[in-house]
Amino acid sequence: MSEVGIEKMGFATTGLYLDMEDLARRRGVDPDKYTIGIGQKEQSVAPSSQDAVSLAAAAAKDALQGESLEGLDMVLLGTESAVDASRAAAVYVKELLGLPDEIRCVEVKQACYGATAALFWALDYVSRRKDRKVLVIGSDVARYGLNTAGEVTQGAGAVAMLISSNPKILSIEGDSVFMTVEAADFWRPPYTNCALVNGRYSMQIYVEFFSKLWKRYRQNTGKSAKDFEAFLFHLPFAKMGFKALKEVLKDEDEETSARLSKRFETSAAYGRRVGNIYSGSLYLALLSLLEGEAMDPGSKIAFFSYGSGAEAELFSATLKEGYFSQLSPSRHLKMIEERRRVDVDEYEHLFSDFPPSSPQDYACDKKYFSGPFRLVGIKNQQRVYEADE
Ligand code: CAA
Repeated sequence: MSEVGIEKMGFATTGLYLDMEDLARRRGVDPDKYTIGIGQKEQSVAPSSQDAVSLAAAAAKDALQGESLEGLDMVLLGTESAVDASRAAAVYVKELLGLPDEIRCVEVKQACYGATAALFWALDYVSRRKDRKVLVIGSDVARYGLNTAGEVTQGAGAVAMLISSNPKILSIEGDSVFMTVEAADFWRPPYTNCALVNGRYSMQIYVEFFSKLWKRYRQNTGKSAKDFEAFLFHLPFAKMGFKALKEVLKDEDEETSARLSKRFETSAAYGRRVGNIYSGSLYLALLSLLEGEAMDPGSKIAFFSYGSGAEAELFSATLKEGYFSQLSPSRHLKMIEERRRVDVDEYEHLFSDFPPSSPQDYACDKKYFSGPFRLVGIKNQQRVYEADE
């Protein structure tokens, strides 16, 4: 098979964040539990004007800066924060970006695995059409609810990836192993905008899936941890990936363990501040690693994608020569740094100001408009978005 993979990446998050120590104090919890035990420092807070559509469009705009749209055939959006039970969020994204009508736009759902399913669809597509490209986006607003155990693992953001047969960042290998088993670890019934979760069980099943796939991957390929410069994990919160990494490290020498542990820390840096972005989390870890630490071209990176319910895939990729020039570390760090800190009262107000699940019109609070795209409100049961002029 010819080379296919990621040509360009983009990222977006909201303009507001909550500090986890502020949340811990309000909830009567030792702040170390959130910052060390769970591993989260901050979480982006989404006003109702920032949803899976506006964040996806912003990440796509970031990825497409300076790129030709020539050959772009599809927009595939992985999300579990669907804004409509029928229409794909990708259709709104296409309009906001002003993409030509000769395009396919589809939403892919399987919890946090959705963007990975979209990625492999895109890779198969471009491997048979050398001059075509696909935009893959993972975009979500992670909501567990006020005063819940999962509250500390919320967040909001999106990662976009341009997939082509000219993979200037990473070429993705055809060595995937995957599995699906029905499991009630995390789900969201249609009547609620917050996820339901069996938290401890979700951690157990995530590590179990990783161990099974890592074993099968090694059997299939004959590779070991020494062959990899980094392991990237779906990171709803940093501690979760660290538990899976420990499964790799338990059989490894000191040098390999030190290298993989250091790289894990770099990969978790953005996520510790942005929080859980569900389907984009694994790819935010990739961006965090590549923008946070110089690595040699040719380095092999292992990826573990996990979506509750539950489905997982382990695959590998190879870093391309000149990959760093495709990235924008200072722009992305600025996006994170320039968010405004909200206190717990303001976060709780914003969390509760959610579009109603009834036919009435709704207007988003203009005070919180930010970013290049936004939901303005709901009129005659239709979502109204706007882009900056
Ligand atoms: N100082 C340091 N550490 C402390 C501490 C303190 N004072 N107090 C507690 N801790 C540690 C605990 O020892 C524990 O660490 P270990 O896991 O290593 O043992 C950690 O902090 C958490 O403590 P608890 O287990 O007591 O915390 P909890 O009961 O409040 O729940 C949680 C933690 C289960 C992660 C909960 O936040 C949760 O349910 N989160 C959501 C779960 C989740 O995101 N699952 C992943 C979803 S799956 C997914 O993302 C895929 C998808 O498809 C959506």
